[in-house]
Amino acid sequence: MNDYDKFFTVAETILTHPKFIEQRQFHHHTSTLFEHAVHVAYVSYRVSKKLKMDEKTIVRGALLHDFFLYDWHIEGKRIRKRGFKKHGFTHAKTAYENAMKHFDLNAIEKDIILKHMFPLNVKPPRYKESWLVNLVDSYVTFKEYFKKHPTSLYRYIETRIEAQKKS
Ligand SMILES: [Fe+2]
Ligand SMILES: [Fe+2]
Repeated sequence: MNDYDKFFTVAETILTHPKFIEQRQFHHHTSTLFEHAVHVAYVSYRVSKKLKMDEKTIVRGALLHDFFLYDWHIEGKRIRKRGFKKHGFTHAKTAYENAMKHFDLNAIEKDIILKHMFPLNVKPPRYKESWLVNLVDSYVTFKEYFKKHPTSLYRYIETRIEAQKKS
């Protein structure tokens, strides 16, 4: 089993869920929300393995950290007009509420999602796993602004999802 295979095994339940796949339609940074989630989850997975942390919890939390299910380039403006706080301040809570509707989450997974925008959201992460995803999200976002994408990983994931649909 190579690293992509192992990652897919850990991520499969969420990665192949129809609601999760819907994120392909939402533009995010220089790709889609789906790809951004996969990118953050995979880098978090690699780091968690090196640090001998709980890979499964970290991957699941990372996959769902931006599960807010709208195009923030469009909705973000609408939200501001309605007088609410900007997308950056509100989307962690929205992602958490959506994730709770579709998946069973443990306490650390919940914290990863809710605290990933710290310090924009005031409460700091409670667990080392949440700190990890918080830092990886910033690192990956920086890379994505410079159009650095793990395209072979994205192709691999798409192939596995297609193969699973046919089986
Ligand atoms: Fe986010
Ligand atoms: Fe993110």
